[in-house]
Amino acid sequence: MLIRNVRIENAESASDIRVEKGIIREISAHLEALEGEEIIEGQGGLVLPPFVDCHVHLDTCLSLDATGPNLSGTLFEGIRVWSEYRKKLDKEEVKERALRTLGMYRKKGVQYIRSHVDISNDLTALEALLELKEQVRDEVEIQLVAFPQDGVMTSEKVRGNLEEAVRMGADVVGGIPHFELTREHGEKSIQYIMEIAQKYDRLVDLHCDEIDDEQSRFLEVLAAKAYETGMGSRVSASHTTAMHSYNNAYCNKLFRVLSMSGINIIANPLVNVNLQGRFDTYPKRRGITRVKELSENGINVSMGHDDIYDPFYPLGNGDMTQVLLMGLHLCHMMGYQELNDSYRIITYNGAKTLNFEEEQYGLAVGKPANFNLFKGRSFFEVLREREGIQYSVRKGKIIHRKE
Ligand code: FE2
Repeated sequence: MLIRNVRIENAESASDIRVEKGIIREISAHLEALEGEEIIEGQGGLVLPPFVDCHVHLDTCLSLDATGPNLSGTLFEGIRVWSEYRKKLDKEEVKERALRTLGMYRKKGVQYIRSHVDISNDLTALEALLELKEQVRDEVEIQLVAFPQDGVMTSEKVRGNLEEAVRMGADVVGGIPHFELTREHGEKSIQYIMEIAQKYDRLVDLHCDEIDDEQSRFLEVLAAKAYETGMGSRVSASHTTAMHSYNNAYCNKLFRVLSMSGINIIANPLVNVNLQGRFDTYPKRRGITRVKELSENGINVSMGHDDIYDPFYPLGNGDMTQVLLMGLHLCHMMGYQELNDSYRIITYNGAKTLNFEEEQYGLAVGKPANFNLFKGRSFFEVLREREGIQYSVRKGKIIHRKE
């Protein structure tokens, strides 16, 4: 396959890319087509590595018709509505919804996904998604997080399910310290989760401080544990929206431990701008972590869609540029250079969060031929025009082509 006349990651000049046997074989200003070679005319458009969604719940996506609505719009009502529905979860139904969700992601050029899976009640959803993960491996790489939605400290059953989920093959250990009964329970939950992760050699990704309470300060506990255990960048904190409300002096102190730890932060702007600020009158807080300041301090920040048409978020279609755009607006990251470079948040930063091997991700000779082709000549144009992707290529095969 020859992809002609494309700009690789905002490059000033265009290149041609040759793909053979699923690998990028050549990149050059001009390559002659071989006999019978499949040709994609890039017309000067942008090529980027595939998008990475670092945080979604494939078990809840597209369930809103069945669960009924979340009338208050709070995270807590979302959890309540979901908890009712999950009692009658069916493996085939979970798979069917997740497969439809993955179809949406494919059209939007997302080839890497980290999905949390609620294991609090039982392991039905995890079983479904472990099977699905293998089934779709050629088109999308999925990491599964064993996610104890109810918290772990008050229920032996949830702790049992969590450990069993990891034994069954979950890649990441999850948690939700701010939802535990007390601050002390929250801290203990982090200790417990880190021990499980070390015992089974797994990554960690907690729903951390997803609340507007400026007193919710579990991120520092998690970062300190990541530092002390040496787990570092194998640990991620999702949401961290309480940071929006911390005072600047505390944030300054917090950023030191975040930098020391090497922990990753995952922001979910679409869902948190919906769920947060719900107890505010006016002014209403934006409900997002400090993406701009974290990034400026060298802390790795990526993003996630979090929810699609479920009790936590009624909209969404798997489009990570929509997620990013919301985040850039909310975080005042609207300078030309910030916008143009922001593709890294939903590509490279995501790959780093998911702990991919460097040889497996990115656009260079010898790497797997996984990429998206856009009509815009730069990412700034892609964001401004929002025309979507023209082609998504995975292991040298076109898996989506714009009609
Ligand atoms: Fe989440």
